[in-house]
Amino acid sequence: MRLDKFLCETLGVTRREATILLRRGEVSVDEKTIKVASVQVSECSKVEWQDRILPMPGPRYFMLNKPEGFVCSHEDNANPTAFTLFDEIKIDKLHFAGRLDVDTTGLVLITDDGQWSHKITSPKRKCNKVYRVWLEEAIGEDYADQLTVGLQLHNEKGLTLPAKIEVVDFSQNELLLTICEGKYHQVKRMFAALGNKVERLHREAIGEIVLDETLEPGEYRVLTAEEIQSIG
Ligand code: URA
Repeated sequence: MRLDKFLCETLGVTRREATILLRRGEVSVDEKTIKVASVQVSECSKVEWQDRILPMPGPRYFMLNKPEGFVCSHEDNANPTAFTLFDEIKIDKLHFAGRLDVDTTGLVLITDDGQWSHKITSPKRKCNKVYRVWLEEAIGEDYADQLTVGLQLHNEKGLTLPAKIEVVDFSQNELLLTICEGKYHQVKRMFAALGNKVERLHREAIGEIVLDETLEPGEYRVLTAEEIQSIG
């Protein structure tokens, strides 16, 4: 692909604007400043603009370890948005493939590929999500059965779909919950329906994609091809 075309698609600039960036000497390919628009670049080329490595044009996919206190939206009056943690171009084109509440931590997937995120968020697809949950009160003996049967949430028509729990630590009221729905405040409402209260909530997995333990809260990385394809 020609370098000017690459810049147009990656930066969202016009051909003329791309030519100006090149003339100013702002673009390098494989560590060399390039001013010629017709230079060919490939997937193996390292294209940099203003000291930033530019991704190949095409859809982008990231996982973020969301810290507490950040909202999953582009704008908020009260809290910083999770996008402020991103050092990427064209942030306005990205969206969350399933949100977390401001006080929930853990795995958030972010992309500009609407078809891909639809497979995660569409209720019809029943994509599993795993949450680590810490409850205020003891884990009830009957929770597993009640979650399998389904719960009646306030202001919802039907019962919740069968969900699974695995107790991690009875003394800490800590468990893993797997659900395949994503209603508003779903997990908190499920435990409220069981007469308990969620004290802390952390998402660990979406489908086959597991939160990378090497990511500190606030850090993110690009998804691997395998992770992207696992959402089928
Ligand atoms: N369920 C909730 O209640 N909150 C979240 O952030 C995610 C799922």
